Amino acid sequence: MKVLLCTFLLIQSVFLQAEDGHNLWLRAKSSSPVNVICSKKSATIDIARQELQQGWLGKAEASVVLTVKPDKTIKGDGFKLTLNGVQANNDLGILYGVYELLRRQHTGEPVKEMICNPSYEARVLDHWDNPDGSIERGYAGRSIFWRKGENSLVVTDNDKILWKEYARANSSVGINGAVLNNVNASPLMLSKEYLGRVKAIAEILRQYGIKTYLSIKFSSPSLIGGLKTSDPLSPEVIKWWKDKVQEIYSMIPDFGGFLVKASSEGQPGPQDYGRTHADGANMMADALKPFGGIVMWRAFVYSPDDPDRAKQAYAEFMPLDGQFRDNVIIQVKNGPVDFQPREPFSPLFGAMKKTSVMPELQITQEYLGQSIHLVFLGAMWEECLKSDTYQDGPGSTVARCTDGSIYAQKHTAIAGVSNIGLDTNWCGHPFAQANWYAFGRLAWDNKLTSEQIADEWIKLTFYESPSGNTGSADFSADWTGNFLNPVKKMMLESREATVNYMMPLGLHHIFAGDHHYGPGPWYAPKGLRSDWTPPYYHKADTIGIGFDRTSTGSNAVSQYHEPLNSQFSDLKTCPEIYLLWFHHLPWDYKLQNGRTLWDEICYHYDTGVKQVREFQKVWDKVQPYVDQERFALVQRKLRSQSKNAQVWKDACLLYFQKFSRKPIPYELERPVNDLNDLIKNDMRRP
Ligand code: GCU
Repeated sequence: MKVLLCTFLLIQSVFLQAEDGHNLWLRAKSSSPVNVICSKKSATIDIARQELQQGWLGKAEASVVLTVKPDKTIKGDGFKLTLNGVQANNDLGILYGVYELLRRQHTGEPVKEMICNPSYEARVLDHWDNPDGSIERGYAGRSIFWRKGENSLVVTDNDKILWKEYARANSSVGINGAVLNNVNASPLMLSKEYLGRVKAIAEILRQYGIKTYLSIKFSSPSLIGGLKTSDPLSPEVIKWWKDKVQEIYSMIPDFGGFLVKASSEGQPGPQDYGRTHADGANMMADALKPFGGIVMWRAFVYSPDDPDRAKQAYAEFMPLDGQFRDNVIIQVKNGPVDFQPREPFSPLFGAMKKTSVMPELQITQEYLGQSIHLVFLGAMWEECLKSDTYQDGPGSTVARCTDGSIYAQKHTAIAGVSNIGLDTNWCGHPFAQANWYAFGRLAWDNKLTSEQIADEWIKLTFYESPSGNTGSADFSADWTGNFLNPVKKMMLESREATVNYMMPLGLHHIFAGDHHYGPGPWYAPKGLRSDWTPPYYHKADTIGIGFDRTSTGSNAVSQYHEPLNSQFSDLKTCPEIYLLWFHHLPWDYKLQNGRTLWDEICYHYDTGVKQVREFQKVWDKVQPYVDQERFALVQRKLRSQSKNAQVWKDACLLYFQKFSRKPIPYELERPVNDLNDLIKNDMRRP
């Protein structure tokens, strides 16, 4: 009987519609008719109407009333779901309400009266796209906005179709901003020709409530404006930016503003002219202010000769607290170093009390297996947003310190570095779509759990009802038990698995140089600045391993508010997940479970590899429930991930063993690679 059932299910999978993933979580269609009643007309309302007609799963012939009417309990582009429709302050709120209503229908959540207000006012995707169409840290093909070659700025019908699909996907999860180019910005982007294309993009995105922003190069006045200086206090520079901003708004009246990487990693900035970050940011903020634009000024700064890179953003920005204009938001990466698989939260969150601060998350998996490894980042972001900073007493989470709940920020925002490219499925890995989805959902509601987000995403992305009506909410016990639950469990474990096989117990920044894909704890070419090399971070020697950031070391712990300072400093209370982030410990240091540090490190790497092997089993077993195309792609990628995890384990254990001089516990699987080969071959993305 069991064999028969399996054969039946396998045959069924062959008949599931082939699916290239292009429709993301918006695959659901329904033929159930609905009457949409709305007295207002606009491009955005038309989209809301169309979405309802395409996706309605409620009672056939039901009436849905869309009402644009001011209501003080509804904030910004929030909305109220009522029993017969959606009410909002503006058209965009209506569209978001419609997406929520449909999401509830398609995920089997009850539709009830409720008010939904966004956590952040600006929910922005940062594209690190270059004018030639390449993408810095992009792993899903080339840019959807830019390309090289002749006629590269001509807007084609295909461009418009793609931008519209992109806008729809964003809007469906509440994303309302897009920075169209790389933070390592080309000055070209502010030229008339490029602004022409930005305008064309903005016209498409606008209907879906998405504002366009640009990354700018700080030295643009000299590079393309013909000025001798880009000093932010020079009157001619101030005028140049004012004129440029005016030109942009004459073309794009709802332009969002600028994102700025300045005096960071070789990028020009105010410090080149003896000025501060505040001088630079305020000059731009003044130019944008009359038009309602904002400046997202990045705090990703560090200099080559500081003994602890993790301390530098705080050291540089804290003295400037209170000096920024109210339309400047300091954009802070979730951790103090750089988007590592695990970092404690950046101590700037909650500490800057008189300045608006926004979190920057990285959706593209630069340090987490790029578009090859299955890693659901919802869990990582939830961990960060829920971290308590204690800056305004217990409960001062990163989320509450940045969303206006605690500090009176004039503007609130959150950004995610996009993982989108021209690949048919947008993100390279089918499961990487979940990270785009999760970013949007958390930006809208920073209290959501990663569990809920994963649940929604799986239902919307994979459910195929027996009638062929994708997405209908009658999830069978079979589908829930044999597909939804195991796949959700795999997603929720996937980030911890990655931490285990890459950088457990607080290890960080031990990847290969440059491409950041494979392991490279040994990587330290002569002449390279030391804070770009792993040994600077792991500090392995014959005595032990880890970065001492307590008062006997760099004292980075002092940047955290009590009780965290004491908690991180004290070995008895420091969470083990951050152990080697804050402490340099002897190899035979005893952990709470009785194992030595060396053994525990070995166990973590081994566990990580085993977890991925389990994911392979989970995936193979769900084959009957997935179309062939996506099934095979994920299966292939999991095979690569499994091989890669083994390499991470072998590389790190064999390399660190040279210092620990201890055996890998004999009950664990032995390495299967040789260290010299791994060093020579430098594992790259397959
Ligand atoms: C990382 C990344 C760079 C990027 C930088 C940034 O260091 O490797 O490619 O430019 O972050 O966020 O500015």
